[in-house]
Amino acid sequence: MGIVTSFTVGNKVIDLPAREGSVGPSVVDISKLYAQAGMFTYDPGFTSTASCDSKITYIDGDEGILLYRGYPIEQLAEHGDFLETAYLLLYGELPTSQQKDDFVYRVTRHTMVHDQMSRFFQGFRRDAHPMAVMVAAVGALSAFYHDSTDISDEHQRMVASIRMIAKIPTLAAMAFKYSIGQPFIYPKNDLDYTSNFLRMCYAVPCEEYYINPVLSRALDRIFILHADHEQNASTATVRLAGSSGANPFACIAAGIACLWGPAHGGANEAALEMLAEIGTPDRIPQFIARAKDKNDPFRLMGFGHRVYKNYDPRAKIMQRTTHEVLNELGIKDDPLLDVALELERIALHDEYFIEKKLYPNIDFYSGITLKAMGFPTDMFTVLFALARTTGWIAQWKEMIEDPSQKIGRPRQLYTGAPRRDYLPLAQRR
Ligand code: SDX
Repeated sequence: MGIVTSFTVGNKVIDLPAREGSVGPSVVDISKLYAQAGMFTYDPGFTSTASCDSKITYIDGDEGILLYRGYPIEQLAEHGDFLETAYLLLYGELPTSQQKDDFVYRVTRHTMVHDQMSRFFQGFRRDAHPMAVMVAAVGALSAFYHDSTDISDEHQRMVASIRMIAKIPTLAAMAFKYSIGQPFIYPKNDLDYTSNFLRMCYAVPCEEYYINPVLSRALDRIFILHADHEQNASTATVRLAGSSGANPFACIAAGIACLWGPAHGGANEAALEMLAEIGTPDRIPQFIARAKDKNDPFRLMGFGHRVYKNYDPRAKIMQRTTHEVLNELGIKDDPLLDVALELERIALHDEYFIEKKLYPNIDFYSGITLKAMGFPTDMFTVLFALARTTGWIAQWKEMIEDPSQKIGRPRQLYTGAPRRDYLPLAQRR
């Protein structure tokens, strides 16, 4: 711990200690600033604020680097699978063969949900947005699993973590089936995590469902890409909710609610809608012009990122996966992909996007792939939430087990009315 800066307030000099990470920017510890200087720091959107220290995910936005527990996302996506990645995020190391078998066994045997959950869905309209259903259903898990909500009990924390990772695909598939009026399909324990999810989405009781190994592998890789991403908005939401001692199911429901926003996980749905609205490559220039027009709220969905000021490494892998899926499905020319590729080409050569360092992010290509796989647009963010649940649980667990953890409670710059006395009704004008 070294002194980084002396902070001068009036004639008072305050030394602020610093901390260095294993890689990446150091931090100035300002936790004592208010006590010593009577001032807060001010950073809406937390563009320069570290809310915690973490060992889980590292991002170098300038270089376009993403590491899960030190392993590059490219290598995990190429050589690993989603449950192995979940183990890595949760426990910090890649599992041995025995550890992996045990983890897969435990997750697999928690994939069923309490059967009354199926009646829970009946309360929704069939055309309810699946994300609305997911926020409610995941929050409702705490009404069914009282035996794993005591966060002070390590065993209950682990049971809740396993239950959450295991049941999120089942609930996501139920939300999908309910929206299309088909019966729920139970999980099958002889299937891997992602094949099980695909079967719960697309099988029907009338016939056996063939699992396409190429599509299952592609979706499993997509889940790896979405599993965690440092202190993004929804992860910060889960941590803040968890800091009050709320049970993990409620915290994950809060994360799902935050992820739904079009500036965050909702961008994959918005990006596909944007590509469909553009329709053909010749209409791209007018949308590029709108994206650059300060008076137009339109933004290129799937472009730009708070941290990446280089190409999102996940987007590159996502693009390759898109081609792989379209080839497997025999889709020779997908008009949406044509628009996406041309839009990317134009934007990456446009001064505005170059100057503002706006590159495609993970949401730019994912929608094309998921649509080709048969998912409706309103299920895209549900799939993002399915994968990110593992990262949220890992971050929640790390926060709960951090001995320095305390309830998160930001302050503010007050710009409202100073103290004033009540004005009787008769005197108001
Ligand atoms: C995810 O944080 C994470 O890690 C998130 C995520 C994860 O895995 O958890 O990576 C997942 O959420 C990816 C991002 C998905 N969202 C979108 O694709 C929506 C479109 N993108 C933008 O809304 C925006 O880029 C954000 C929200 C992603 C980032 O916004 P910032 O960091 O707050 O940046 P900003 O809004 O201040 O923009 C900086 C400048 C602005 O211009 P000026 O006011 O400086 O003149 O860049 C412009 C913006 O107008 N800009 C864009 C743009 N994004 C930013 N202009 C056109 N199109 C865009 N997409």
